[in-house]
Amino acid sequence: MKIVCRCEDVTEEEIIEAIDQGYTTLEELKRHLRVGTGPCQGRTCMKIIEKILAKKLGKNIDELKKTTVRPPLKPVPLYIYGDEDEE
Ligand code: FES
Repeated sequence: MKIVCRCEDVTEEEIIEAIDQGYTTLEELKRHLRVGTGPCQGRTCMKIIEKILAKKLGKNIDELKKTTVRPPLKPVPLYIYGDEDEE
């Protein structure tokens, strides 16, 4: 058992099974398995998932449609949104 998405605890077998069930885009895999939605926002796992999907579909990674990226891309401390001079 090879864990691919450590944040959401998703294995390579689960990803391959989902692709076999018809989830054949990165967005569908993300919505179905929650891969790429953890604290790292897919920075750790999405490249690996792209490789698995491309291999299963017999496509080049560049042919795959990328997922929607929503900010913030990195966790930021809340004081950034506040006024430092304000008490
Ligand atoms: S390892 Fe997949 S979202 Fe972090």
